[in-house]
Formats: sequence, C-alpha cells, structure tokens
Amino acid sequence: MDEALQQRIHDQIAYEASRDSPPPGFPALPEIPGGRYTSAAFHDLEMEHLFLKTWLPTVRVEELDRRGSFIVWRKLGRPILIVRGKDDVVRAFYNSCRHRGAAVTPVDKGHASLLRCQYHSWSYDLTGRLVAVPDERDFCGLDKSQRGLIPVRCESHGGTVFVNFDDAAPPLSDMLAPMLDEWACIGMEELRIVMRHIAVIDCNWKAAVDAFLEVYHINTIHRDSLGKALDSRSTALGLFPHGHSRMVTAYNPWALETLGMDVDGQPDIAGATALHRRSSTAYLQFPNLIMPFRSIFVQQLRVWPRGPHQCELEVVGLGPDWGEGPPPAYWDKAAPAFRKVLEEDMENLGSIQESLNSGACTGMLLSYQERRIYWMHEEIDRRIGVERIPPQFRVAQLLGEFIEPQDKELAQ
Ligand code: FES
Ligand SMILES: [Fe+2]
Repeated sequence: MDEALQQRIHDQIAYEASRDSPPPGFPALPEIPGGRYTSAAFHDLEMEHLFLKTWLPTVRVEELDRRGSFIVWRKLGRPILIVRGKDDVVRAFYNSCRHRGAAVTPVDKGHASLLRCQYHSWSYDLTGRLVAVPDERDFCGLDKSQRGLIPVRCESHGGTVFVNFDDAAPPLSDMLAPMLDEWACIGMEELRIVMRHIAVIDCNWKAAVDAFLEVYHINTIHRDSLGKALDSRSTALGLFPHGHSRMVTAYNPWALETLGMDVDGQPDIAGATALHRRSSTAYLQFPNLIMPFRSIFVQQLRVWPRGPHQCELEVVGLGPDWGEGPPPAYWDKAAPAFRKVLEEDMENLGSIQESLNSGACTGMLLSYQERRIYWMHEEIDRRIGVERIPPQFRVAQLLGEFIEPQDKELAQ
C-alpha cells in the first residue's frame, strides 16, 4: 500500500471522525428486503448465478506441500479434488470417477502418484487423464482420452487456491484487480496457516457477511474486547468495482500497548505499513471472503451458504513464516482472544434470522457507515441479473458513483 493511499485513508479517517452528518449528496439507502435472507427462490438464484460463477477460496498452497498432495474441498455440495501435479501445477477436478461416479479418492487428504478409484480401480494421473481401466476389453469402444476427470477452473493468488465453476468467468486477477496493488506489500503467498476454525451459524450467509462489513456494533457487542482498541467513528470505507470493499478503522492510540495486543512480541509481517500498524484494514473480497489485515496477522473469514437459513463460517488465520516445526506458541496464546471476538460477532445472527423468518423484520435499514453492506447487495443483483430477480427482492442500484475515484475506470 503506497504512501499516497495511506495518507488519503488517513485524511478520510480524520474527516469521518469530525463530520456531523453523512457527506452532502449521500442518499438515504432503501431497506434491504428481508426476503433476500429467507426466500428459497432467491437462494437458488444466488447459487446458480453467483456462487457457481465466481472465484471461491479453497485450500492454501502450503497444504499441498509436495507433488502428488491432494485435498478434497467440500463446500456448496460439490466435492472437488485439488491436486499438486508432478509439474507443481495445482489443478482441480470433480471428485467423481468417470466410470460410475464413485469418489476418486475416498480420503479427503493424502498423497498419491496415481489417483485410483476405490470402486473398480479406474486410474487417473495427476493431470486427470484416465490411464488405466481393468478389463478394458469388456468396454465396447471405450475412448480413454474422453473419460478423464472433469476439470474445474483453478487459479491461485496470495497462496490461496481459488476455483470457479464457470468456464466463461473472467480470470481471477481481473476480479481482484481493484485490490492487487494495495495487497502486494503484505506478500500473502508467504504467510502460513496459524489458526483454523469452523462454526455453523443459523442464519443466511448474507447476514453473516453483513456482520463483518461495519464497525457500528463495535462499542456494544465488542465492548470488552475489540471495542476498547478500535475507534468506530474513525472509520474510512472504500467501495471498489465488482462488489469488493475496504474498511480501515483506527486503533485508539493507547490500545495496542494497554491491551497487550502485540502478544509476546509477535513479529510483524515484513511488508506491513504504518497504516497496518495503527489500524485494522479489512476487505470484502466479494462475495464471501472477509479479510482483516493487521500488521501481525491476516485472517480469512469465508462464509459458505448451507441453504437459505444456515451458513458456515470458516476461519483461516495466516501469520508470518516461522520456519521449521509447528506454529510458535504465541499463536496458541492469541487464539482465545480471536475466538472471543468471532463469537461476539455471531451472537446476534440467529435472532436476526428468526426475526426475518417470523416476518417481524421486513427489511434492513442501513446507515452511511454501513454502506459496504448495501454495495455487496447491489453487486449480488448485478451478478444474478436484475431482470431475473422478483421485484420485491431487488435493491436499487445507487452507489456506483461512490466507488473510489482512482478505481472508477475499472468499473466500466
Ligand atoms: S466407479 Fe470408479 S472405477 Fe467404477
Ligand atoms: Fe465485529
């Protein structure tokens, strides 16, 4: 993140802290219709036109630690086999044998030089090519070249492997373009997994994402934790093309030292900037990846729909490389504090869903400082195609003129 951008965000934080009302010209945002969080039909539209057509975070490259390493990634009801080939290229395939559909690998993680189906031993090489069929003579006209594993698009950024079920989708780098420059200094590909956690939440996936897109709640649900460290009024939001966004919240100047957030002298990420040291800088990589950056740590909060009324929060914590052996002990010390904040974030989500389901909550009313939520919902409609969405579920397209000035050309 270059100096000019840091300064601009710093100035924006000062402005936000000082203003008495939203900036002139900012619109009153219409309510987000509650039916978007409860309707099975809307959920189906999201699955078909959004989740199955966008880049989705899966494993970390470090988890595929040698040639032949594989992991079966299981989200959205589509088991995907992700493999590091003999050429070190990471590839993804449906974990579905081309004979009669059994799982090619019965275990979810391992190492193999050949992928052999456990049912009748059809065998595939690490590029997905079908190479051996027992009793091949009994199959009339079998063309093995046409029966390889079905590939899924797979690209990596920052050490995370992403898949996309849509062969026509733009490349991952196009989708991430608005953030790539400002992320570069962190060197995410060098970071390693230091924490992992999964929670199932009884709410629509959007209610969970919404919870991480604002800090309006910070002095209430986080009053005994993060609320002491972050100054919610000193928050600068940035909207980017493709539904992405940024939120930078200043630390109270005394907080880091007083709260001991620099646990046992944890090292900073080498490329962390002054802004990372004095603020929490969090991104939404649309649609479902929330990434808070701190100078010592990057979190990936991934939210996975499980039907209209339930989702899964998958947390992957990333820290600087520590060399050999298990992660340093300070991560074990820090883990309960991070867990506590996440539990606080989840506290209200079940009751929100109940309110939505009961009809008591017919819509979400958003403030200026909650506009990242609105921007995410706008983008959901653009991805689905506004004309496909029943009128009562649509959100008006309003915030396009409020994306960050230097990124406007990317939205064209
Ligand atoms: S289903 Fe895989 S070999 Fe028969
Ligand atoms: Fe929170």
